[in-house]
Parts: sequence; C-alpha cells; structure tokens
Amino acid sequence: MFKINDNYLKLPGSYLFSTIAKKVAAFSEANPDKNIIRLGIGDVTQPLAPAIIHSLHKAVDEMAVKETFRGYAPDLGYEFLRSAIAKNDYQDRGCEIAADEIFVSDGAKCDSGNIQEIFSIDNRIAVCDPVYPVYVDTNVMAGRAGTYDPKAETWSDVIYMPCTAENNFAPDLPKETPDIIYLCFPNNPTGSTITKSQLQDWVDYANKVGAVIIYDAAYEAYISEEDVPHTIYECEGARTCAIELRSFSKNAGFTGTRLGFTVIPKELKCGDVSLHSLWARRHGTKYNGAPYIIQRAGEAVYTPEGKAQLKEQIAYYMKNAKVIYEGLKDMGYTVSGGVNAPYIWLKTPDNMTSWEFFDYLLEKANVVGTPGSGFGPSGEGYFRLTAFGTYENTVAAVERMKKL
Ligand code: MLT
Repeated sequence: MFKINDNYLKLPGSYLFSTIAKKVAAFSEANPDKNIIRLGIGDVTQPLAPAIIHSLHKAVDEMAVKETFRGYAPDLGYEFLRSAIAKNDYQDRGCEIAADEIFVSDGAKCDSGNIQEIFSIDNRIAVCDPVYPVYVDTNVMAGRAGTYDPKAETWSDVIYMPCTAENNFAPDLPKETPDIIYLCFPNNPTGSTITKSQLQDWVDYANKVGAVIIYDAAYEAYISEEDVPHTIYECEGARTCAIELRSFSKNAGFTGTRLGFTVIPKELKCGDVSLHSLWARRHGTKYNGAPYIIQRAGEAVYTPEGKAQLKEQIAYYMKNAKVIYEGLKDMGYTVSGGVNAPYIWLKTPDNMTSWEFFDYLLEKANVVGTPGSGFGPSGEGYFRLTAFGTYENTVAAVERMKKL
C-alpha cells in the first residue's frame, strides 16, 4: 500500500495567493458589475520590453531553421546568459562571481522552494516574520518545520525573527542558533531594506556559527538608495556562507515568461562537500532547463537597449509606489516600504485584523491587497499593496481609499 508524504497534511489551508485568488473570484462572481483593482500578488502589468521581444522573435526564428535549431538546453544554463549575468550583476559591481557559479532556472519561486532539498532534514531554519510563504511551506513539506501551532500560527522547529516597526522591519540576529537562514532584501512583504554593513553582520554571523544564508535578491532592481547592497556578495566572506536567488520576474516582467537563477560559489562547503556540486547534481537530474528562446530573452535584459527600457519600467512601478505611499500617508495611514521596493506595507486602521481589512477594502473599494498576517504572525495588523499595477489603476485605487 502506498503512503503519502504526510508533511503535506500539516500545511494549513491553501497557498496564500491561491486563497486570495479564490476570495476575489467569489467576490467578482457575486458582484459582476464591480471593477476590481488588483494590488495583491506582486505580478507585473507592463508588457515585455521591446529589446526582449526582439530577442524572443529572433530566437523563435532560429528554432525554425535546421542549422540554428536547439534541443535540450545545457543542464546549468546557456553560457551566453550565465556570462551576461556574471558580468552585469556581479563583476561590474566588483563581486567575484564566475559564470559557472550561476545556475539558470525557470524562476526564483521554484529555486527558493527547491534549494532546501540539498540540506539535511535536521537543520533548523530561521526566517523573518513576516516572510514570503514559500520558504516556510517548502520546509514543512520536507518535514523540517515540526508541528504547527494554529493559535500562534508558528511551527515548533522554525526560528522566527520578528520584523516589526521597532526594528524597522529588519531582523535582529536570532537568539537560538540556526543552520539555514533565509533573508530577502529588499524585502517581500514589508519593502524594507538593510544597509551593506548590516548585511555584513549577517555574513560574519553565518560564518561564525557555520550557518548558510539563502539570500533572495529578487527585488534588487528597485534599490534607489546608495548604502543598500544589490547582492550579498558585496559583503566580505559571503562566498563561504551564502547562496543567492535571483529572478527576471520583477526587474524584467518575466512572471509569465519564467526565468531566474541561483548563485552558489565554489567555496561554499559543508566539510569537504561542495554545495555547488550538490546543486549541479540536482539540477542535472531534475531540471530540464529554461527554454533557449527564454534564455535569449534573458540575455536581452543586459543589452544597452534592454537596460534603458527596463530602467523606465522600474521607474514606472516606483512612480506607482510613490502614489500609494504618499496617498496613504496623506490619509493618515502608518506606511513603510516603497522606496527601494515595489511593496508598500501599511498598518491597518482602527485595529482591524489583516483579513478584516482585506475584506473591507475588497467590499468597499473593490481593491485587492495582501493581508500581512498571511506572511506570518508578526504581519498581523498589517497589509501589503503592490506597485505593480498600471498607473491609472494605482491612482484610482488610492482615490477609492480616500473615499472610505
Ligand atoms: C508576491 O506577491 O509575494 C510574489 O509576487 C509572489 C511570487 O513572486 O511568487
């Protein structure tokens, strides 16, 4: 008789963004005349930039010709893309990352969920609270999280690092020693950042206690302030303790196109065992590689035209962030984020819970956001709005909130 992985049964409800999608679909069905503005999931609304589309078309044409047709992509990604990433995202920033330390994938969500597979089940993970749910959910699925306390909304074996207004939504070093530390900056969901010297403290700490940092830098393109690091490899010693996850979704609009990558430096080892080799082994076995045409589209992100066009897209979303941030401030909300990140984090008014505010906003303003408590217990009483809508919708959403 087969048995299931009963860790899955421990997971409460459905995935946060699926729950929201179901609620919004039910509301929309009951109120077909309402024009709903979606500022919930961090999904982009601007079309792919012309340089990317051009590169996609060219690659599609190559696939139609015998001489230039491509079959399976190389296990770890095409050299042309890995070199472009290594140069533009790392070497040009003075970081020592080589092309063969980059593993191209179909996106950071999968990588952030799958990376835990190369670690023993005995490791203790530490996460920010609130946190992008994929890190915790996938450790639950693997059996690494212990038991769930529905009242506290926490897992017995997970170390939570509260990110609250008191610490500017930046975690303090944990009191218990973790083996694996998940960090994401600019942060999803709070939109907070840490300075290079704060990140250096984490790197020093990880090297001291023998922990590995899984650093999610999916939102680095939104950094506008000088002292905020774009990659963990700006910190000294990161090559021996940090894995970095990156995405083409938020900086280049690939949420539907799918492309991302993981960086694992060769010096990152557990005893004699190289994590780079383990991940390469896993990638080779379980992963088919992002399609050629998509990797060519990714390459276009690093061309001069691509860079200029994407700079405009980021500016577009950050203009939305400003509209939300300033609009909410004027209305008297307590707001943060939105300066180095496309997320605005607000305190719910009148002591409403996060989900109460979600329902209130959906019913009264027909605006969708994300309840802070969906990201963890410290997110209770908070709410996230994204800057990824269209400008018109963003302005309209703020106007509707003013009328509440
Ligand atoms: C979010 O809304 O938190 C993210 O967009 C979800 C994701 O990237 O998977």
